[in-house]
Amino acid sequence: MKISNAHLRSFRNHNETAFEFGTRVNVLLGENGQGKTNALEALSFLCLTKSFYASADATVMQQHGTFFEIKSVLLSDKGKEFHVRVTYDDEKKTKKFTINGADVEKFSSVIGMFPVVILSPENSSITFGSPADRRKFVDLVISQSSKSYVENAMEYRRIVRQRNMILSEAKGKDCSSEIAPWNEMLITYGSRIIGKRNQFLSEFAPYIAQTYLDIVDERETPKIEYAPSISIKPDSSLEEIAAAMEQKLAKKKNDELRFQTTLVGPHRDEIIFSLNGMSLKHFASQGQHKTFLVALKVAEFFFLKERCNETPIFLLDDVFSELDEYRSRKLLSLAESLGQIFITTTSEKIFGGAEWNNERRKFFIKSGEVAQEPVTA
Ligand SMILES: Nc1ncnc2c1ncn2[C@@H]1O[C@H](COP(=O)(O)OP(=O)(O)OP(=O)(O)O)[C@@H](O)[C@H]1O
Ligand SMILES: [Mg+2]
Repeated sequence: MKISNAHLRSFRNHNETAFEFGTRVNVLLGENGQGKTNALEALSFLCLTKSFYASADATVMQQHGTFFEIKSVLLSDKGKEFHVRVTYDDEKKTKKFTINGADVEKFSSVIGMFPVVILSPENSSITFGSPADRRKFVDLVISQSSKSYVENAMEYRRIVRQRNMILSEAKGKDCSSEIAPWNEMLITYGSRIIGKRNQFLSEFAPYIAQTYLDIVDERETPKIEYAPSISIKPDSSLEEIAAAMEQKLAKKKNDELRFQTTLVGPHRDEIIFSLNGMSLKHFASQGQHKTFLVALKVAEFFFLKERCNETPIFLLDDVFSELDEYRSRKLLSLAESLGQIFITTTSEKIFGGAEWNNERRKFFIKSGEVAQEPVTA
């Protein structure tokens, strides 16, 4: 997959910005707060139909604006052209997504069509943060590689909300009859999500082992372990997972009434990262965290490339500011070997001596504009 061009209107601080991208490396250079990350956010919006930062569409609309628009031409590995357009109308609070002129009815159907991997400073929460941050990472990778997962996850969230409402309204009193149908749905959808995460984590394990080896010189063995709120095995069937959920729900019935919230299901899953058998979260150094994260993202790239049958685009937001020059160069040459990449940076230093041409372009971003046209061959 490649992004040939993109046209942003009224998106964050970009009033009207047009990019004609290089086919391999695109560097967005500029001082702090100029709109580099915003441009990457727009690109990811095309692929994910939403922002990877903001939860509400209106947030990415230019302040005091009434709409935003992102238009782009994407090219698949097989050479097929996709004219993609996203528009948001603030008055009607509606978002429209079209591909080659046709309206997309279900936004979830777009996810995975244009696979994307994002490495940004916010991602540090994947290794440092709470279980929810790790679930979000896992969900985004699975979502891009499995259509039904997105829909199951959406439905599951709705079920948990409903169920929590019943538990909260019961105020600790028995509500067995109201909650019974929701228990069944919780188990149906919850077990599908647990089953998929279980399968994903075992399939993903060799990818992370390999990329970690590629990135780290010394031998450290990374591991990702699935720790759901019910006990299952790596090869548990859907029926076994559902049975385990049912059992656990019965066991937690009183606790759920007392705490007025759903205590069993994939929204309580933990995913544990470790290096040489030691939990990353509790024992790893800053550098080990960073390396693990880069390895995760590169592994995600290869995983999606295989599953989606399409090379993902790779967005690297401000990754070099935290790495020393040696590691930065290593990451850069690795990233360049993957596919089309988009890099934001405040310093050109690491690209010193690079040639700029149709494959490799540099855009100087200032106050939400491309201040200088890129050099082309
Ligand atoms: N909805 C919005 N409307 C207008 N401007 C916005 C909006 N959201 C953010 N901005 C502005 O965008 C700028 C930040 O842009 P961005 O995050 O892309 O900067 P950056 O170039 O990546 O900087 P840094 O190097 O610090 O990461 C800020 O000046 C902010 O005020
Ligand atoms: Mg930024």
